[in-house]
Amino acid sequence: MYAVTRADYGPPDRLVIGEVPTPSPKPDELLVRVRATTVNRTDCGILLGRPAAIRLFTGLRSPRSSVPGTDFAGDVVAVGSAVRRFAVGDRVWGFDDNGLASQAQFLAIAEGAAIAAIPTDVGYDQAAASAEGSHYALNFMKRAHYRPGQRVCVYGATGAIGSAAVQLLADRGSRVTAFSAPGHLDDVAALGADVVLDYTTTTPSDLDERFDLFFDAVGKSSFSATRHLLGDDGRYVSSELGQRAENLVLPMTTRLRRGPKVDFPFPTGARDTIARMTRLLAEGRFRPLIDRHFPMAEAVAAYEYVLTGQKIGNVILDIDGTARRDTPRHSGRGARPPDDRGPSGPTRGDSTVGVCEARRTCGSPPS
Ligand SMILES: NC(=O)c1ccc[n+]([C@@H]2O[C@H](COP(=O)([O-])OP(=O)(O)OC[C@H]3O[C@@H](n4cnc5c(N)ncnc54)[C@H](OP(=O)(O)O)[C@@H]3O)[C@@H](O)[C@H]2O)c1
Repeated sequence: MYAVTRADYGPPDRLVIGEVPTPSPKPDELLVRVRATTVNRTDCGILLGRPAAIRLFTGLRSPRSSVPGTDFAGDVVAVGSAVRRFAVGDRVWGFDDNGLASQAQFLAIAEGAAIAAIPTDVGYDQAAASAEGSHYALNFMKRAHYRPGQRVCVYGATGAIGSAAVQLLADRGSRVTAFSAPGHLDDVAALGADVVLDYTTTTPSDLDERFDLFFDAVGKSSFSATRHLLGDDGRYVSSELGQRAENLVLPMTTRLRRGPKVDFPFPTGARDTIARMTRLLAEGRFRPLIDRHFPMAEAVAAYEYVLTGQKIGNVILDIDGTARRDTPRHSGRGARPPDDRGPSGPTRGDSTVGVCEARRTCGSPPS
């Protein structure tokens, strides 16, 4: 089979699309034909081996898996003898932030892993894009003891984490104020944010209101710059370590005194995430923000684009040109779908070109 491969930690230009053995499923495993996966910031961390702590999970000197990829959506094409929950032909999706080797035509995965059936009305690309950002958003909300209906400020609402957070919070009745990249204010409003601010013209210090939670989804703000927005019971959570790794220290020091607290989660519970997101997708209460589709042949460009830090939502790696197949219309419930703008979907200018290229380049990959 064909896969994105690499031998060492390093920049995207070391990635090669090459032939590797197709995995054989063990008795408790499924063999999945991958239709869509994403290139996300977690993949970038695993690619570069940075921050260094990530190597404790992915291999100290060199990556344990030569094939990257943390999420997937595809079809079951074979099952091991002990598999009970899934059958050949099932549409499935899943996630593991330590790596799944999913940037490949096929992957083998245990039926007890963080996987689930894709709801009928959900496309492969939509399923794949509902994993990574949602997983971190849910973890951060849980760590910050989020309660439905709280007032929340989401900083970096156009990222994978931020765009998932806005939808998940709005779905639970929160009033959400969101800081967005310019040019995407409408996208963020469509996710369910009540107030959308352009981060290039407004900063948290310009605000004069109180929040129960300040959720920095891009790690570009700080507790000191936002604590005036939080009451004594308020919480600050960030997706990054912050200056001199202060977000690792502040959770301890803020607990020693009165006033708002800082939380820093180490994400866990991928099975819970997939189960919960499957329910929300099935009920039409979540639709991921999708930026561009890249064909597998352009994996290097996909990584380079994600590493610019300028993607919105999620970037799809279309393994064989079928990531959008069977993508239905949105049911109309829940937040307004950000990518429901007609047949080409996503928001950035060249998305349609990306899909055409995907079909042309990878339409019938050799197996
Ligand atoms: N802690 C964890 O476990 C964990 C896991 C995964 C990711 N992360 C980290 O979380 C961060 C977010 O990742 P992501 O994939 O969700 O999103 P991302 O790709 O980093 O987000 C990019 C978006 O954020 C916008 N942005 C940049 N600077 C901003 C600012 N100062 N204020 C508001 N928006 C800004 C960008 O807009 P422009 O186009 O205008 O720049 C772009 O639309 C990354 O730093 C990543 O490394 C942490």
